[in-house]
Amino acid sequence: MSPRSAAPGETAKTVSARDFLPPRRSLKAAREAAAACRGCPLWRNATQTVFGEGPRRARLMLIGEMPGDREDLAGKPFVGPAGRLLDEALRAAGIERDDAYVTNVVKHFKWEPRGKRRLHKKPGAAEVAACRPWLDVEIELVQPSAIVCLGATAARSLLGPRFLVSKQRGRPVASDLAPYVTATVHPSSLLRLPDSEDRREAMTRFVADLGTVGPALERG
Ligand code: URA
Ligand code: SF4
Repeated sequence: MSPRSAAPGETAKTVSARDFLPPRRSLKAAREAAAACRGCPLWRNATQTVFGEGPRRARLMLIGEMPGDREDLAGKPFVGPAGRLLDEALRAAGIERDDAYVTNVVKHFKWEPRGKRRLHKKPGAAEVAACRPWLDVEIELVQPSAIVCLGATAARSLLGPRFLVSKQRGRPVASDLAPYVTATVHPSSLLRLPDSEDRREAMTRFVADLGTVGPALERG
């Protein structure tokens, strides 16, 4: 894919989404501004910005890592295989996906070619940091009662670089981001398990972790 030409306003000093934040603080304004974000190089090889989706005042916010191939094409978060698994787990946990605001720490798909396929590439610390202003705006405007970080990228970005999902999953974490904040595995980690028994067990734990937000949603 050939790189697009530099966008208006893009300069060597542009290092963050901060330079693209809209003056008016609304989700609609932020979504529109994010569509034109060039705060890091990831926009160049992606189809579009994948902003968060969900009710303006959702009590629950789910935060993933970065859109995948399907999300990049659809322009919506968690609509591919990981999204279907997430939907299934939410249903099992008694949570309506439509009641949740679903988003990612990084809003453009990072990938490398493998034959005809576009393989997910982990976003680096610089990209996570550059994109953070969009997530901060989303949290500030939605003001969720509960936040669930899905996977290590989201957990480390929001809860600190030493956060260990394997050890600290499913427990409340002290944070000023929301009254109840927790982390669990990323749904795509379940898709990677080859053994169906392992997958079933992992799903049970994932559903249990998601279910811990229940009381916080009732309070909120
Ligand atoms: N994985 C993520 O972290 N986010 C998505 O939106 C899809 C897959
Ligand atoms: Fe902007 Fe984030 Fe896309 Fe980078 S990944 S261009 S910071 S929206």
